[in-house]
Amino acid sequence: MRRNRLRLAGLLAAVLVAVTAPAAEARPEPPTLADLAQRHGRYFGSATDNPELTDAPYTALLGSEFDQITPGNGMKWYATEPQQGVFDFSQGDEIVDLARANHQKVRGHTLVWHSQLPGWLSDREWTADELRAVLKKHIQTEVRHYRGKVFAWDVVNEAFNEDGTYRETVFYRTLGPGYIADALRWAHQADPRVKLYLNDYNIESIGPKSDAYYRLAQELRAQGVPLHGIGLQAHLALQYGYPATLEDNLRRFSRLGLDTALSEVDIRMYVPADEAKLATQAAWYRDLTEACLAVRRCVGITLWDYTDKYSWIPAFFEGEGAALPWDEQLRPKPAYYAIREALK
Ligand code: XIL
Repeated sequence: MRRNRLRLAGLLAAVLVAVTAPAAEARPEPPTLADLAQRHGRYFGSATDNPELTDAPYTALLGSEFDQITPGNGMKWYATEPQQGVFDFSQGDEIVDLARANHQKVRGHTLVWHSQLPGWLSDREWTADELRAVLKKHIQTEVRHYRGKVFAWDVVNEAFNEDGTYRETVFYRTLGPGYIADALRWAHQADPRVKLYLNDYNIESIGPKSDAYYRLAQELRAQGVPLHGIGLQAHLALQYGYPATLEDNLRRFSRLGLDTALSEVDIRMYVPADEAKLATQAAWYRDLTEACLAVRRCVGITLWDYTDKYSWIPAFFEGEGAALPWDEQLRPKPAYYAIREALK
């Protein structure tokens, strides 16, 4: 009797499993943005920053929805060489470790930039020989440290003015325009496998600034300088209009044999947001995703963080915000669904 009852219980359990298991299979997890992008041979990524990594719901989405990460600040010069010759890679390492745990690849950002420099570098004058040595050491120490851990580097960030002239940075003033080729060569020596990029904003459209990159890229390639890609930051703003020539622009760089990436995407607006603005924003996210997919060498898209909760926009552009596909409560906005549509 007892044994029969046991047998019955076992049978019931088996039936239960048989009934529930197929139901679970019938409703699989919806594919993530990364899954959808991978079907096109692209990545879909997000920037992140060390202070946010204590926010568990935030890191859960960061780790599941994306297959690529860029440290928003942790690999910049002020963070990595706070005193001359004293290197600190703890912040970048934390993000590389997280990315590795989530099977994500990392874009290194950034080696040479006029902004967020340590005081010891920006607060004094340098001779060309001194600055060349400082620059070489910084680049090679950092690139060597992250060898095999990042797949690409933004070697020089924001080198041009809006009119296509060189930005008068400490590097340009002291070393002349050749600092860009030197930086690329030094980075390449330190990691011959990593993809080397120039990266800037307001170069999504064809115009004086993107033309400057086009010409420079042509020259560098002709001289055999190791340049592999152009990063178009794509910090867009509704009030300036959509960069309608984006796709053509991506295509002309790919014809030079270069990769391109939409490297820091956000689409800001004057706040408060409303339904109409969010709908326009969604259409722009869809359009830029489609533009990247339409050009073979556009390798991926990176959001400059994925949620309005951690966007840099409100602190840098007064009265503006709501720039990302997830809101401050980590809820997906129309832009998120528009990106999914574009990737399908
Ligand atoms: C921003 C970061 O997101 C902020 O946290 C920081 O205070 C300033 O820099 N272009 C770039 C990025 O290349 O490095 C910038 O990141 C945004 C503009």
